[in-house]
Amino acid sequence: MAVTIRRLEEFDEVESFDCGDAPLNNYLQRHAWINQQKVSIGVTYVALEESAPRAVLGYFTLATSSVAREQFPKKYVRGLPPYELPLVLLARLAVDKRFSGRGLGHALLSEALKITLRVADEVGCRCIITDAYPDKAGWYARYGFLPLEGAAANHPQKMFLDVRTIRRASTSASSPAEKE
Ligand SMILES: CC(C)(COP(=O)(O)OP(=O)(O)OC[C@H]1O[C@@H](n2cnc3c(N)ncnc32)[C@H](O)[C@@H]1OP(=O)(O)O)[C@@H](O)C(=O)NCCC(=O)NCCS
Repeated sequence: MAVTIRRLEEFDEVESFDCGDAPLNNYLQRHAWINQQKVSIGVTYVALEESAPRAVLGYFTLATSSVAREQFPKKYVRGLPPYELPLVLLARLAVDKRFSGRGLGHALLSEALKITLRVADEVGCRCIITDAYPDKAGWYARYGFLPLEGAAANHPQKMFLDVRTIRRASTSASSPAEKE
């Protein structure tokens, strides 16, 4: 499957997108374009197949955010100033269930990590963070995402990945961002 990933465009086909999760479908269909284009609170990137270059197969949305230093493991924030940590928020990530298990989630997350490195270089951010569904925490852990402290069971688990880990991975053959 020849897939490209680019920013969401106004006339992309999103109505038939179905990842099996109604809030994630609804976000793409109702809010992603407005949030990106009109109110500038999040940018959505979509995966498309070359043979159908408007049909969205998967997407992720990024925004900037910050999280209180106390929520991170003590070892991680040792030596950092007592401010909230600036970071990139992976606000949403979903793959149409008709295309799941084919590496699209991997391709989308890899692109999100590349963008995070660019933000780190040009703006400054310490990590990328996401609210992982409990049954997806293992999927994120494969890439090196670690849990934040104090998360309640059966609720989305905040998980983060440090920019230095992403950078090392991007320059190393043994990258956690590359499938093993
Ligand atoms: C999570 C999601 C984006 C993954 O996308 P995908 O394209 O199916 O994932 P990939 O094909 O890149 O990865 C599949 C691999 O992850 C593994 N995997 C799947 N779920 C896993 C889990 N919970 N823990 C560990 N590994 C997992 C699979 O076994 C498979 O492994 P393999 O490549 O070695 O065969 C997709 O399942 C999805 O959109 N789900 C619905 C929405 C959702 O839950 N979004 C995440 C919100 S936190």
